[in-house]
Amino acid sequence: MRMYDIIMKKRNGGELSDEEIKFFVDGYTAGDIRDYQAAALMMAVYFQKMTERETFALTMAMAKSGEMLNLDMIKGIKVDKHSTGGVGDKTSLALAPMVAACGIPVAKMSGRGLGHTGGTIDKLESFPGFSTALSTDRFIENVNNIGISIIGQTAELAPADKKLYALRDVTATVDNMSLIASSIMSKKLAAGADAIVLDVKTGSGAFMKTEEDAFLLAGEMVKIGKNAGKYTAAVVSDMDQPLGFAVGNALEVKEAIDTLKGNGPEDFEELCFTLGSLMLVAGGVAANDNDAKLMLRRVISDGSALKKLAEFVRAQGGDERAVYDTELLPKADIVRPVISDRSGYISHI
Ligand code: URA
Repeated sequence: MRMYDIIMKKRNGGELSDEEIKFFVDGYTAGDIRDYQAAALMMAVYFQKMTERETFALTMAMAKSGEMLNLDMIKGIKVDKHSTGGVGDKTSLALAPMVAACGIPVAKMSGRGLGHTGGTIDKLESFPGFSTALSTDRFIENVNNIGISIIGQTAELAPADKKLYALRDVTATVDNMSLIASSIMSKKLAAGADAIVLDVKTGSGAFMKTEEDAFLLAGEMVKIGKNAGKYTAAVVSDMDQPLGFAVGNALEVKEAIDTLKGNGPEDFEELCFTLGSLMLVAGGVAANDNDAKLMLRRVISDGSALKKLAEFVRAQGGDERAVYDTELLPKADIVRPVISDRSGYISHI
């Protein structure tokens, strides 16, 4: 098999076989196929697109390009959640302790900022001393002991995606439906959860600018998850303006804490409840959406979700006092008020 022939086949609109896709992914991960040939193939895919079968084959080949995490040592149904990325998207910071307090084991791998979108790992590092670089054993131990752990993506997890993403980032081939779907789902499948809940963002602050594209991407990812034998559900949510009010790592941590105290912005709270309900039903701890929402309300009003956040921060070396006193979170060196020179209202951000 030659990479040259694979590129030409896709360039001419052909459908690649599973073997050809695996040949490319394995060869690129091993360093046998060079960036210039991989870039040419990505551009051919960008213009010619991929069929559902090709997208699934690409996802599985990338998921299997490194370690496939086995979470069997964790008791219960593990439900993972993933956002396609947006501005002010601090959902995991509030949602993870909420669902953990309801009895869903949260064993999550999160990323850093990507392009203009923020990353959960960067936000969590606002807690003084917090570390996301835990060994797999400690990660599993923390989930079994306190019900929650979040770590950064290890070098061994889906290395093909790591290389390909960096390549797509500099070759104008990010915003292709099949490439985004396979990139996200390969990581989710390698991370070992039993069920996956996806938050697909749409609007000016998202990768998918139109609702139509966001629904197509959501459908594509749900199909991949189901074909891989995982319960998968998706929500399409608005990213035409920042989520909540806060944008910036420590500010977003504070807003997530306010939400766990029952004082969150309406749009953010609604999203947490929507995704949380799907996770509780998928994890089998709630019978339906109504029951799930009641459980989520309870862990906020009785303070157990906030307590769960504090336990989680302490277990990963962070200063848990910052959960109860957000003045301890870092502040920007320069804080400058922006005052309007006339009265009116903000119609769009
Ligand atoms: N997030 C990812 O992990 N990959 C993409 O391609 C886009 C968003």
